Formats: sequence, structure tokens, C-alpha cells
Amino acid sequence: MPPIKRSAELQPLSRDHHRALLVAMRVQHGLDGKPFAGPMVGFDGLLAEANEFYSAHFTDHAAAEEEHLVPALRSANPDAAEHLDRLVDDHRRLSRLLVEAGEQGRSTNERRSALCEFGAVLEAHVRFEERELFAIIEESLAHDVLEAIGERLAEYEAQRDPSCRGGGAG
Ligand SMILES: [Fe+2]
Ligand SMILES: [Fe+2]
Repeated sequence: MPPIKRSAELQPLSRDHHRALLVAMRVQHGLDGKPFAGPMVGFDGLLAEANEFYSAHFTDHAAAEEEHLVPALRSANPDAAEHLDRLVDDHRRLSRLLVEAGEQGRSTNERRSALCEFGAVLEAHVRFEERELFAIIEESLAHDVLEAIGERLAEYEAQRDPSCRGGGAG
């Protein structure tokens, strides 16, 4: 898939998406017994990678989207409500799936299928944001509103650990 060129304002989020896709692919392929972009690791290793990604990278990213994108788009375009609900629901679902994947009281199969679903939902979520949600944002928001969001996102990115940017996939 050729990368979609998003507006400069949204690029701090798009740069984070490279790492998210890498983790999503490593989890899905790894559970299938196939290496992807790095050494082959078992369930515990994949779960550890997913948890590290979630706490070090994803929570701040999701918070930035919910804080900077959701209110602006909700007020600019009432037709976008469904997309915004999906954005927030996906974030909650990813959190729940990772908890399930780590729960010792569950069977191995349940934990594997929760982690596999985490990978699939994460991949679909990033593609949904890049292909649908960000396009709606670019179409719906007035230029000055998008510009103001871009400034907040640039501040968000500047405060992050540089390792959050990129990730090798993509
Ligand atoms: Fe998101
Ligand atoms: Fe995102």
C-alpha cells in the first residue's frame, strides 16, 4: 500500500502509526509462527512487546487524539459522530484485549486469541484513522482550526521520547 500523504498538521500522529503497524504485524505474524521485521519470539515475548508499545507509546498517542481531534471534529461535523465513536471505542477495546491476553486465569487459547485480536484491531484502527478519519478531519475543519491542532500536535511530539517516532515499518 503506498503511504497516504496526510496534511503536515496530522503528521506527528502519522509518524506514530508506523510503530503501531509494526507491532500489529509482528503480533499477528508471530502468533502464526512467522517472523516479521525482527526475531521470532513466542507468545510471552509478543505479549511483552505489545505491553511495552501500549504503555510507552500508545496511551499518550490515544490521549492526544481524544484531546485534540475529537472535540474539534465533533463540533465541526456532526456527521462524523460515528467515526469519532469508533476512534474512542477502538482505544478502549485495545486496552481490554491486552488485559485479557495477560490474565493468568484464562486458558492459553483465550489469551492467544485476545492478543491476536489486539493485533488485528490495532492494524485496522491505524488504517481507519489514516484512510478515513484523517481525510474527514482535513475536509471538515477550517484551515485555522487545523493549524491550531497542528501546533498542539507538534508540542505533543516534541515532548515525547524520540524513540516513539517511526519504528521501522512502513
Ligand atoms: Fe487512535
Ligand atoms: Fe492513531
